[in-house]
Order: sequence, then C-alpha cells, then structure tokens
Amino acid sequence: MQLLDGKIASRAVKEQLKAKVDKIIASGARPPHLAVILVGNNGASETYVASKVKTCAEIGYQSTEIRREVDITEADLLSEIQKLNNDVSVDGILVQLPLPKHIDEKKVIAAIDPAKDVDGFHPVSAGNLTLGMPTFIPATPYGIMLMLEHYNISTKGKHAVVIGRSNIVGRPMSILLSTNNPYGNCTVTLCHSHTPNLEEICLQADIVVAALGRPGFVKAEMVKEGAIIIDVGITRVEDATAKKGFRIKGDVDFDAVAPKASFITPVPGGVGLMTIAGLLQNTLVAYEKRQQA
Ligand SMILES: NC(=O)c1ccc[n+]([C@@H]2O[C@H](COP(=O)([O-])OP(=O)(O)OC[C@H]3O[C@@H](n4cnc5c(N)ncnc54)[C@H](OP(=O)(O)O)[C@@H]3O)[C@@H](O)[C@H]2O)c1
Repeated sequence: MQLLDGKIASRAVKEQLKAKVDKIIASGARPPHLAVILVGNNGASETYVASKVKTCAEIGYQSTEIRREVDITEADLLSEIQKLNNDVSVDGILVQLPLPKHIDEKKVIAAIDPAKDVDGFHPVSAGNLTLGMPTFIPATPYGIMLMLEHYNISTKGKHAVVIGRSNIVGRPMSILLSTNNPYGNCTVTLCHSHTPNLEEICLQADIVVAALGRPGFVKAEMVKEGAIIIDVGITRVEDATAKKGFRIKGDVDFDAVAPKASFITPVPGGVGLMTIAGLLQNTLVAYEKRQQA
C-alpha cells in the first residue's frame, strides 16, 4: 500500500505556482488576487478560509477576506459579489459555503462572473466541464486529479465508483474520471443514497472515490484487493481526548481498508490539502486569462 500524501503532492503544486508568481512579480506585474467572502462564523468554514488565505500568502498571491454577519440579506450579499465582479484588481471570487438558510446558494453562485469563478460552481463552468471544454474545475475534484497526476496513477480503462453526487464533489469527479484525458478514461459508476447493492458495486471498483460525508462508511469488505481509494470525507467527530474536542474523520475506515488498497489518501492530510492546490491553480488561470483579455 502506498499513501497518496496530500502534503507532498500539494507542496509540489504550490512550488510550481510560486515559481510562476515570482516571475510575474519580477516582471513588475501585480500578483493574482483571490477574494473570499465568509458569511457568519461557522467553525469549519473559518478554518477553510484561514487556510486558503494563508496559502495565498505563502505563494505570493494577494488575497482579500470579506467577512459579513450571519444575518446579511441576500440582496446585500449579491451586491458584494457585484462589487467584486466589477473590481478589475480581483481575479477570483470564492463564496465559502454553506451559506445561512435564508440565502439562496444557487442565486449567489450564479451571480459570480464566470471569468472569476475559481471554485468552478457557476452553471457556465459546470456546463463547460460536462462538454469537455476548458473551464474552472471545482477545486476538490481538480485537486484529486492533481493528486493522481502527481503520483502518476494510471486510470485508463479502470472501473471507478464514485459515492456521492453533489455538484461540488461527486458529480464533477465522475465527469473528470470518465473524460478522455490522461487521468480519466475510466468507466464510472456514480452512486448515491438511492443506490441499491452499494457494497457489491464497490467490490467491482478499481478506484473508489468516497464523497458522502459518512465517517468510516467504506469498510474493508466493500473493497477489492489492490483498489485505489480516494477519501474525500471530512466530518468532525466528537473526541473528548482531542485538544479541540473533535477529530476529523474521512468516509473510509482507513485502518481496515489500507492493507487491501494499492493507494489510499489519508484524512486529514489527503484530499483536503489538494483542494486548496486546485483553487490556487484556478486562480492563476483566471489571472492569466484576464491579463490576456
Ligand atoms: N476534502 C475536501 O476538501 C472536501 C471538499 C468538499 C467536501 N468534503 C467532504 O466530502 C463529503 C461530501 O461532501 P459533499 O458536499 O459532496 O456532500 P453532500 O452535498 O451532502 O452530498 C453527499 C452525497 O452523498 C450521498 N450519500 C449520502 N449518504 C449516502 C449513503 N448512505 N450511500 C450512498 N450515498 C450517500 C448523497 O446522496 P443523495 O444525493 O441521494 O442525497 C449525496 O449525493 C463531506 O464529508 C464533506 O465535508 C471534503
């Protein structure tokens, strides 16, 4: 079994990005600029935003964090987005999800200028992805593709089972793995909560991508010998012995599954770190396109 280490793979991506940004700055141009909107004070969202902002600084991007109260109206949030759409110094806009219940996430995502949609959630980005056109790929599936590329994992002709069909992880992941690209060309089965015989389907998988948000869901008896296991799940599980009172758990029962796997991502330290790498890669693309426009 080989660990697919998000620290190593994301460091490699960040080093490449930093080298590009260093060149941009040395040429006298401004660096790429990511704007992040955080509504309210959800603990997990705070952590994600802090880590995105910190990584921007590490590689030389400019970042702006815009914090708004949990009771901001939908109209005010839409107007914040409009301001960022019109701001020529901003290349990428990210609205940290989830949003409070009174705000329509779909409306907010659709309000982002598709040219600045570095999270890849806008309908235009999703449509382009489906058609195999160049686009912003949602950061988590993109990060997984970067991980496969870093470890040069052969995917062609393999049967990939993706568990979870969300617009941000499972569905775009299933599209990427089925697309004709160097780390695609899989035969893909996309599973969800209405899939019967999930265990049998998983047992046929050469690659399992678990993205359902159920800690420890994928057990050893669901996995065939030598399978490649990608664990996307991040759930905070109460743990009185942990400093923060919780531990992060993935969707795979790591200790039991790892001995059967050929490759496996840990949680934490796997896909989560690659998600940021995907986001920063998208931000550079947005910057370059806007410079050329
Ligand atoms: N590592 C990262 O950077 C990263 C990024 C994003 C998300 N995540 C994590 O990834 C997990 C999934 O996130 P998400 O946003 O995609 O979640 P989501 O929007 O809640 O979607 C979960 C999906 O899993 C399916 N599902 C739920 N229970 C199932 C079951 N028992 N059997 C089969 N399918 C089941 C659901 O099916 P239905 O459609 O039928 O309801 C749904 O399609 C979460 O733990 C999240 O925290 C991690």
